[in-house]
Amino acid sequence: MQVIILYLRIHFFMEFLKEIQRRRTFGIISHPDAGKTTLTEKLLLFGGAIQEAGAVKSNKIKKGATSDFMEIERQRGISVATSVLAFEYNGIKINILDTPGHKDFAEDTFRTLTAVDSVIVVIDVAKGVEEQTEKLVEVCRMRNIPIIVFINKMDREGKDAFELLDEIEQKLGLKVTPLSFPIGMGYDFKGIYNIWEKNLNLFSGDSRKNIEETIEISDLNSSELNTLIGDEASETLREEIELVEGIYPSFDRQDYLDGNLQPVFFGSALNSFGVRELLDCFVEIAPTPRAKQSEERLVQPDEDKFTGFVFKIHANMDPNHRNRLAFVKIVSGEFKRNAPYLHVRHNKKVKFSSPNAFFAEKKEIVDISFPGDIVGLQDTGTFKIGDTLTEGEVLNYKGVPSFSPEHFRYINNADPMKSKQLNKGIDQLMDEGVAQLFTLELNGRKVIGTVGALQYEVIQYRLEHEYGAKCTYENLNVFKACWVEPENPKSEEFTSFKRVKQRYLAKDKSNKLVFLADSSFSLQMTQQKYPSITFHFTSEY
Ligand code: G4P
Repeated sequence: MQVIILYLRIHFFMEFLKEIQRRRTFGIISHPDAGKTTLTEKLLLFGGAIQEAGAVKSNKIKKGATSDFMEIERQRGISVATSVLAFEYNGIKINILDTPGHKDFAEDTFRTLTAVDSVIVVIDVAKGVEEQTEKLVEVCRMRNIPIIVFINKMDREGKDAFELLDEIEQKLGLKVTPLSFPIGMGYDFKGIYNIWEKNLNLFSGDSRKNIEETIEISDLNSSELNTLIGDEASETLREEIELVEGIYPSFDRQDYLDGNLQPVFFGSALNSFGVRELLDCFVEIAPTPRAKQSEERLVQPDEDKFTGFVFKIHANMDPNHRNRLAFVKIVSGEFKRNAPYLHVRHNKKVKFSSPNAFFAEKKEIVDISFPGDIVGLQDTGTFKIGDTLTEGEVLNYKGVPSFSPEHFRYINNADPMKSKQLNKGIDQLMDEGVAQLFTLELNGRKVIGTVGALQYEVIQYRLEHEYGAKCTYENLNVFKACWVEPENPKSEEFTSFKRVKQRYLAKDKSNKLVFLADSSFSLQMTQQKYPSITFHFTSEY
């Protein structure tokens, strides 16, 4: 009997390991318009998850929309559906986590990056490295997230491939190695030589073709190449590949996984060209769910007890049903429907009778999910971003930091009869991560800090429509919010700092002390005057 039990245990564990090994959870990041939505859609097409192009709704805020703000509401509706797009490809379960492209929602993207195991960066061949890409890649580099670069829109005239690779190294601080290389571009775009698989893909310009014909070319010096693409293009390609091999390091998977080397692919998402190469290589090299650091210890995905953390909260669009969906990334163990889990921050056991799993653009109730997966949990206001769930262990996952906002305004109650509703609304919107709240030490006034000015409109609208509360804003001159860490909280220096700077001090939502510097000069002076105090630009230090 014991032997059978042991055998079954081993069997289940092996099955569990297989499930982990076949998962790839990643995000696609880019500057708006580089082609993130188009690429996502093509990946789903390859996976058979959707049948036609145009099925994935773009969640971006269209330029020239009548009101940016109505666009946001429209987008909020779509973005629940596209938050996690999952599909199967060659036996691999792929989870794509959606990241908003609009810069006012950059913080959402930063948070989603805490839940991915790798990323694909899309770059427009004509525009090269753009601002938003720089910021996002910097966050990925800080966290050593493995990165693959996809240079898109090769069917258009753009920058020279070598020039672009240089720009990527310079501006993004990456060390690249091309795994495919374009043959011409724009009008002269003939196709792609796949360095990884050593074959050739000729461009037909037919966007309806799902998979292009692939021609094996094991030796670039063969005359077959001349027959296929002509003498001139063959010569250029041979020279370029020689140069690639001379300049760039050869691909090393461990270097890629450690975040020290970034493979590059070229293609045209719109024409489904170069996408299969990207996907085939991705499923082979991209990391399976990775271990995650908690404040207490490093947690491995194959541990048998479930742990996970909330990285995103989505409010219901319907004001009559004010429940929300909390997105939990499973770090270890199996997440089971109706099992009791510990909500660590509340020290309370909770059960979930209808956890959602995501497939393409649908969500369904699931009984069991594995590390790497995302489950959507119905929430009535008990979660906030960064919360950890476990089977009983007291663990707090690190890595969902707040960054200093860019804009700051006082928020005032415009309807004294509704102050309870206003406070509740502000509280819940902050838990969702829409903006950050600071309460001034001096007089208890509330300050809302945001990454983009658009959020103020969103907050005002949602407070009114979802909570029945009215607010007004008042300008406040703040340059940066800095989280304050004294070397010794009891020191005279710190006491004096708190007294002299009282007007500029506030508490964030988790009661951490924050210094609201009104200019870069005053911040510098303060840093000089109080050398034993460290001023951090993110809440996690
Ligand atoms: P985003 O999510 O990164 O913001 O970009 P999205 O995929 O929406 O693409 C932005 C624009 O670039 C779209 O055109 C899209 O059709 C186009 N595009 C994407 N990939 C390629 C490509 O490989 N080649 C070319 N030539 N164009 C590409 P749009 O006119 O702004 O939108 P739409 O009306 O076509 O949807």
